[in-house]
Formats: sequence, C-alpha cells, structure tokens
Amino acid sequence: MTGAAEGKAVVGPPLWLLAELTYRCPLQCPYCSNPLDFANGEQELSTEQWLSVLRQGRELGAAQLGFSGGEPLVRPDLPELIAEARKLGYYTNLITSGLGLTDAKVDAFADAGLDHIQVSFQASDPELNNAVAGSRKAFEQKLAMAEAVKAAGYPMVLNFVIHRHNIHQMVDIIDLCERLGADYVELATCQYYGWAFKNREGLMPSLAQLTRAEAEVNEARTRLQAAGSAMQLIFVTPDYYEERPKACMNGWGSLFLTVAPDGTALPCHSARLLPIDFPQVQSTSLREIWYDSPGFNHYRGDSWMPEPCRSCDEKGKDFGGCRCQAYLLTGNADNADPVCGKSPHHDRILAARRAADHATAGLEDLVYRNVQNSRLFFRS
Ligand code: FES
Repeated sequence: MTGAAEGKAVVGPPLWLLAELTYRCPLQCPYCSNPLDFANGEQELSTEQWLSVLRQGRELGAAQLGFSGGEPLVRPDLPELIAEARKLGYYTNLITSGLGLTDAKVDAFADAGLDHIQVSFQASDPELNNAVAGSRKAFEQKLAMAEAVKAAGYPMVLNFVIHRHNIHQMVDIIDLCERLGADYVELATCQYYGWAFKNREGLMPSLAQLTRAEAEVNEARTRLQAAGSAMQLIFVTPDYYEERPKACMNGWGSLFLTVAPDGTALPCHSARLLPIDFPQVQSTSLREIWYDSPGFNHYRGDSWMPEPCRSCDEKGKDFGGCRCQAYLLTGNADNADPVCGKSPHHDRILAARRAADHATAGLEDLVYRNVQNSRLFFRS
C-alpha cells in the first residue's frame, strides 16, 4: 500500500529524514533529547546499512537529510555518508556540538558536499557553558569551530538551548553571536523530553524570566535591523507556556522519518518512549515502514482522537499536539497534549509553571546525560 487506508490521512512522502547516527557523545547536557537508557548497548547500524537507509529515503522522496546524534562526528564514516547523500541529491545538515571537529574536517565535509553545519553552545561564557556541557574545553573548541565553519563558506548557524540557568544571558548570547558573525541563531527554549523531562524542575524558566528574555530578543532584533545586520534570531518559546499545542512533527508520520542509531525507525526522535512497536530498518524496507507499519500509522489522520480533540475545530491545525508530551504528562499518548487549554490534563502544565516560579535547583542538582547515569535508568 502506498497511500492510506480508507478514512485515514492521505500519506505523502517523508520529506525530512533524520539520521541519528549514534548516541555516543563527549558532552553531558542535562537537557539532551536522547532516551534516558541510551547506554543500553544496542549496536549501531553499519556504514552499509546507513548507506542503504539514505538511498531508500531518497527513493521515497526525502529531500532534507539531518545527521545528528549524540555527536555524529564520532562516526568515522561521516564523510562517506555525506558524500553519498550529496550524490543522491539530498540537502544535508550536520547538527554538532563542535567537539571532535577540526578545520580539516570542516573542509573535508565541504568537499564531500555538506550544505549546512549547526554548532550548538550551552552559554555565552566558558564557565557556564562548560559546566552545563560537562566538559572543561568545550567553549573554546566551539568558538574555534564556529569560526572554521564560517571560514569554509557555510552560513554560520548557532544553536543555544535556553533554560533557567542561562536565560539571564540573552543579551550576552546575542552579543557573542554578533561578534562571531553568525547568520542564524536559534534560541531554543528547552522542550521537555528525554533528559530534559527528567530535569524539568531544574531547567524550566519562570514566566518572568521568559518574558524578559523574549523582550530582550525583540529589542535586539530591532537594533540589528536598524544597523542593517542580516543576523536572524529565532526564538523558540517552550510548549509549557503556550495555551495551544504545536503541530508536532507537522503531524505524526506526515513529513519526518527518524532512524535511531540501532536502526529503529521513528516518526519523531522521542517516540521510542511510547508503548508502540516501531520497525527496524534492518528487517523492513523504508517504504514499508513509512506507508504500512502499524507504528507509523498509529496516529495518522484523526480517527484515533478522543475528545476534546475529536470535535475541536483546530484539530486540522495542531493534530492534537504532541503524542510524546501527552504520554509523558498523562501516561496515555492518545490524550490531547496537556499544553492545550482545553485538555482535561492542562492542570499539569499549570503546576509545572507554578513550580518554575519557586524552583531553587542549581546546576549541581541536575542529572547529567552520561553513560553512568543512563545505566542507572535502564537497571531501574
Ligand atoms: Fe514525539 Fe511530539 S515529540 S510526537
């Protein structure tokens, strides 16, 4: 079947393929979206298997390809995968911490045909950056690599995950980006999945912090525009301060196809936490996974929706919100995303906001994303 069953959504191709090459990472960010039990020892796909995934994805119609992780640079076959992706005609994006990157690698990736590199930072100063990243040399390395990326002719795309411990740095973060000559800056307030959900109380900013940060971003935009700067600031507000849910992944199984390091195919990077069986690329073709697998069809269309989503006139816009968030907050992924003011579980969001007003956790109270902590989770 290459369409949809009767009464279900019409299924187009997966335009966006995310290759999560590995869960290995030299950093320990406490907001990582990888699963808590990432260190459970599953084998990573081989180079040949990844090449096959890329070819099948392109045949299906995927146009954008993201390489992420963990830290994708730990895979020695990354240049080979980039070269194949270019040959196949993908627009390719590398999402990296910058750790493990060198000037030579930046050039080699450009030669192989990489279109875009996004370097993530944790803060505007080395102390906080390195404390959050759990690495003493991270900041220095990120600065050097951001510059190398620009020097190699890529647009400079920087990403800062914003939380209660760095949100006061908004002005300094924007200054740093200007000094570096960034073209695009993503100021992405933490979303609460994976390790970030585990650490939510220690990470979530208060409404007052958020309001101030947003005003600072708006002021900076006005100033940059007046000065003729082309630097774009993209401020992503957290779901927990919204009254309507986001159209997560533009709808389940609608555009996005993620392949996890062990070959599990997912409609979003967090979905493996759901009590749903997802197929493996080692045993099922990508076409069958996308069009026919029960996992990818589970939340397509709207026939699965309970109230209040089923009769909501916004369901075609937000698709009931995020299934992973519904599961994390209510224990049932069928429920409306509690972010929605119409959800009977919206009180959980309101309680989290109230908790953020009084939170006192320091950086030392966060659970850092590392193999040791991950092993604790899969044993329990
Ligand atoms: Fe999985 Fe939203 S993150 S559906």
